[in-house]
Amino acid sequence: MTASHSFRVLLDNSTVLRRVRELAASIGRDFPAESPVGVIVIDGARMFARHLQRHLGKAMEWHEIRASSYGTGTTSSGSVQVGSQGDLCVAGRSVLLVEDIVDTGRTIAALRERFLAQGAKEVRVATLLSKPSRRVVEVELEYVGFEIPDEFVIGFGMDYAGRYRELEEVVVYEESRAAAGEA
Ligand code: PRP
Repeated sequence: MTASHSFRVLLDNSTVLRRVRELAASIGRDFPAESPVGVIVIDGARMFARHLQRHLGKAMEWHEIRASSYGTGTTSSGSVQVGSQGDLCVAGRSVLLVEDIVDTGRTIAALRERFLAQGAKEVRVATLLSKPSRRVVEVELEYVGFEIPDEFVIGFGMDYAGRYRELEEVVVYEESRAAAGEA
């Protein structure tokens, strides 16, 4: 048996960028006075956040936090590991969590709970993608770029075993196994 894979573009770059602009406009309208503190869930959300930041156009305070629920494969391991939050202090503040994708909902649920426990006034979520059919934990998502079916996607910041994050489109990664020598 030999493993092979193929890529299929799900969302092209201009479609994604147009939607990011719309999300930034909604966020800007919802926070007319005091900007929230932005928390980027790395690594996956970095590219989405970079484009969001460009359009938000305010002198927002940004931090990064690492949260991992996937191993090197394409399925969630079920446990969420949250890294150091550095000098981020959320007490009394509105938090905007920026994610690339919400799948089971565990990562966002864990981060929201963490920041609310630290005294955040509110925690809102901006995610480029959401897979509602995969949800294990019910989470409220205030700003969703696209709802997508249960397919493994890479590109625009998302990886497969650390690769393909730099792709400008959101691409479905399809892995198939074929017998060696099969036509
Ligand atoms: C992905 C994604 C979210 C999480 C979503 O991160 O960036 O943080 O999984 O899954 P969930 O809703 O089931 O919790 P990943 O662990 O792949 O790390 P990465 O961002 O560094 O690629």
